[in-house]
Amino acid sequence: MRDAYIVTSVRTPGCKRKKGAFSQTRPEDLIAFILDAAVKKTPALEKKDVEDIMVGCAFPEAEQGMNIGRVAALMAGFPVEVTGATVNRFCSSGLEAIAQASLRVMAGWSEVTIGSGVESMSFVPLGGHMPRPHPEWTKQHADLYTSMGITAENVAKRYGVSREDQDEFACQSQLKAARARKEGLFTELVPTPATRYVRQENGTYRKETVLQDFDDGIREGTTVEGLAKLNPVFAAGGSVTAGNSSQTTDGAAATVIMSEEKMNELGLTPVAKLKYYTTVGCQPDEMGVGPKYAIPRVLKMAGVDIKDVGLFEINEAFASQALHCIRELGIDNDMDKININGGAIALGHPLGCTGAKLAATLLANMRRKGAQYGVESMCIGGGMGAAALFELCG
Ligand SMILES: CC(C)(COP(=O)(O)OP(=O)(O)OC[C@H]1O[C@@H](n2cnc3c(N)ncnc32)[C@H](O)[C@@H]1OP(=O)(O)O)[C@@H](O)C(=O)NCCC(=O)NCCS
Repeated sequence: MRDAYIVTSVRTPGCKRKKGAFSQTRPEDLIAFILDAAVKKTPALEKKDVEDIMVGCAFPEAEQGMNIGRVAALMAGFPVEVTGATVNRFCSSGLEAIAQASLRVMAGWSEVTIGSGVESMSFVPLGGHMPRPHPEWTKQHADLYTSMGITAENVAKRYGVSREDQDEFACQSQLKAARARKEGLFTELVPTPATRYVRQENGTYRKETVLQDFDDGIREGTTVEGLAKLNPVFAAGGSVTAGNSSQTTDGAAATVIMSEEKMNELGLTPVAKLKYYTTVGCQPDEMGVGPKYAIPRVLKMAGVDIKDVGLFEINEAFASQALHCIRELGIDNDMDKININGGAIALGHPLGCTGAKLAATLLANMRRKGAQYGVESMCIGGGMGAAALFELCG
């Protein structure tokens, strides 16, 4: 198969569910905006050049339903000939979308595609509006529907990840993110219109738009002592708190992928290539262990030693599972290579967007640091892990 090249990878800010800047911004607006921005940031690329747009979304219903991939493509001003699909693999949906979009170019079926992701957890909550687990199946396999917070408690208990270690990890995430924001390191972030409905004196509401240019979940004053005071939120006597869990967040991200021929025709310089992508299953009631299986598998496929990976983005669904995977992978002495600008504990985890968002962040950091190899990985509800290996170009 031929190579597929990533030329642009961008994201909106991540903003807190219900309390944050995008709480009144519809998911279609978020994804349409970032798709448009991705094309505008790719010199000489025209919307008609794009053949297909894959949009990751973990709960594709209500405002995110009706094939948001197609809706967003048209809302973003792509011609009718440009197609769009919705991809769901829960927390890796955005990465799955990038992988599928890349494969299409690698197979020679398309010249230009976009892999992306969106989630408005303000509009569609985790679990969706009307979960309907199968009645007989769940009697024997209730673990498939275990609350994500309980799976994090299970990982903490089964593998001995202490509350203190979780809080220390969470604190570092917040401090790294605060520093990155202060130093302007989120170069992949595109200021994004946020909608607000402002009540008028006569009782009606006026729609206003403001430009949101920062991740609004970062708590720069976080301390280990402050985190230690928080009560567990998922289980009495547990160790998983609001401070050491990923935040529920709204956001979108997009990556433009093309063939070498098209890149040369447009005179573009590639950023990176997606070399390999894989998924692995694990027990649903400890889904957080997924990355400890997926990362070794993707590296084995590529013949790359873990020591040669310059940067990692390992999704912080919860501190307990991220820390356990980092320890099992034997990279706990390389924390300066992992989530260097903070992770989902500080920046949020907008489910179906996360895979696309982490790719944008990883690629920006690989470029800045000159890292040849970067690994992105996450655990996935239902018991899975996903991992991708990116290689920097040039
Ligand atoms: C854990 C969870 C329920 C908390 O939700 P929440 O109550 O909206 O969380 P918040 O971030 O608003 O924090 C609540 C309170 O905790 C405290 N807190 C949170 N982070 C803190 C920090 N870093 N330092 C000190 N206090 C903190 C604050 O008192 C905060 O209230 P405030 O914002 O009014 O100050 C939610 O984030 C969650 O469900 N996360 C996991 C999502 C998930 O399962 N994703 C899928 C994974 S596979």
